[in-house]
Amino acid sequence: MTDTTIGIKHVASALARQTLQNSALTRPVAGVKPIRLMPWLQVVKIGGRLMDRGAAAILPLVEEIRQLLPEHRLLFLTGAGLRARHVYGVGLDLGLPVGSLAPLAASEAGQNGHILAAMLSAEGVSYVEHPTIANQLAIHLQAARAVVGSAFPPYHHHEFPGARIPAHRADTGAFLAADALGAAGLTIVEDVDGICSTDPNGPEAGSAELLREVSAAELLKTTGPLPVDRAMLESMANARHIAQVQVVNGLVPGRLTAALRGEHVGTLIRTGAAA
Ligand SMILES: Nc1ncnc2c1ncn2[C@@H]1O[C@H](COP(=O)(O)OP(=O)(O)O)[C@@H](O)[C@H]1O
Ligand SMILES: [Mg+2]
Repeated sequence: MTDTTIGIKHVASALARQTLQNSALTRPVAGVKPIRLMPWLQVVKIGGRLMDRGAAAILPLVEEIRQLLPEHRLLFLTGAGLRARHVYGVGLDLGLPVGSLAPLAASEAGQNGHILAAMLSAEGVSYVEHPTIANQLAIHLQAARAVVGSAFPPYHHHEFPGARIPAHRADTGAFLAADALGAAGLTIVEDVDGICSTDPNGPEAGSAELLREVSAAELLKTTGPLPVDRAMLESMANARHIAQVQVVNGLVPGRLTAALRGEHVGTLIRTGAAA
């Protein structure tokens, strides 16, 4: 919209003359549902703990992914595992702030992505950096059935202070990317069957029961350990597109394939977009 007064051209903007802090004023403009950029995209987050297991876990998963490629167009996002835990340990011992620890851990997520992409390079799959995911994912997915990136969100030195260990880790990054892209789905690949009532590898393993379906809000109320970031569960309250996320066991052949075909084979977490 333009408006010309005595030869001076004004560019009218619905938000020009008001604070962006007042939601009553911004809602008529900013309250509309965003479009889905890539409604055909399947995002798959691969846990760092799975990658830590080396050939025994990675080779069968890579073979399963090879078989999946003709069926879907995929963005694989890898998380950080043991090496990030080591670097957290060293950094915390030295008193490094959370904003310095975040990029150190993120670098391991990137390493795992490079490893996964290398294993799939014969299929045309390559590792791409965050700016490429943000701006050139569509063209890359015209050239290949899948690409790999780091699941860690780039908060880095802007990581929120509070906890000494970065709160926004790989699950949060994968969820934020999948929702922003308007993807068809997000699957989180773990080394356990899904989310249980307690850690199935912990001291109370005997009483651990698999939660088949749960809302992010219900999970946030629990106080015990979880295999997904609590910051992801908080972000899920405001999801725009991704209504549910499935957590599946990547050590069991066929689980990822089934999940991507819409089968219920792990834990379904319902987000705020489902309501
Ligand atoms: N409530 C729970 N349900 C399932 N697994 C849990 C739970 N609490 C803790 N865990 C543990 O979390 C581990 C996965 O750790 P996590 O840090 O999520 O790995 P990754 O970095 O690969 O995502 C599982 O092997 C399991 O032992
Ligand atoms: Mg996990």
